[in-house]
Amino acid sequence: MTKTWQKIFGLSFLLLFTNTACTSDTEESALNEPPPIVAEPPAAEPYVPAPEEAKPVQVTQKTRDTYQWYCSQCHGVEGKGDGMNALHLAVPPRNHTKADYLGTRTNQHLFDAIKLGGLAVGRAPCMPAWGNTLADEEITGLVNYIRELCQCEGA
Ligand code: HEC
Repeated sequence: MTKTWQKIFGLSFLLLFTNTACTSDTEESALNEPPPIVAEPPAAEPYVPAPEEAKPVQVTQKTRDTYQWYCSQCHGVEGKGDGMNALHLAVPPRNHTKADYLGTRTNQHLFDAIKLGGLAVGRAPCMPAWGNTLADEEITGLVNYIRELCQCEGA
């Protein structure tokens, strides 16, 4: 009987010891670890306006797909301003097939409207800004696509 108790005591001492050793081990290694590296926030990219002459960028199938994906909900599948969201907007989305207004705008204006949003060009804020979603070249492609839709040149 006594021997069994001795065994149990011995075992629990051993366990206690091992446990303590483990704990202090991890504590020590945590102390020795270098401090976590906190990533520097990326520096803000300087705003580079699109070149006034936006023609060299081709309207590709990808441009058309981008328009369908991001713009058609409001501007319509054919760009006529009749997308399924149009009814819910306080200001109607621009009809991109109409030259009467678009012909009076420069390519730079359209570029800014797409990149920075309606508000940035003195239009309605329900035209969202796409600068965080689309690259400048894609936006220039969209400007050229809108020129195709309206069959009009920039002012
Ligand atoms: C949430 C709806 C919505 C989406 C999505 C949207 N637009 Fe618009 N857009 C508008 C509205 C509303 C206007 C009209 C703003 C006004 O007349 O004040 C507008 C106007 C414009 C104009 C003309 C700016 C001006 O001077 O009136 C351009 C160009 C344009 N959108 C391009 C795009 C392109 C390209 C996309 C896709 C990348 C897009 N829009 C996606 C709602 C939207």
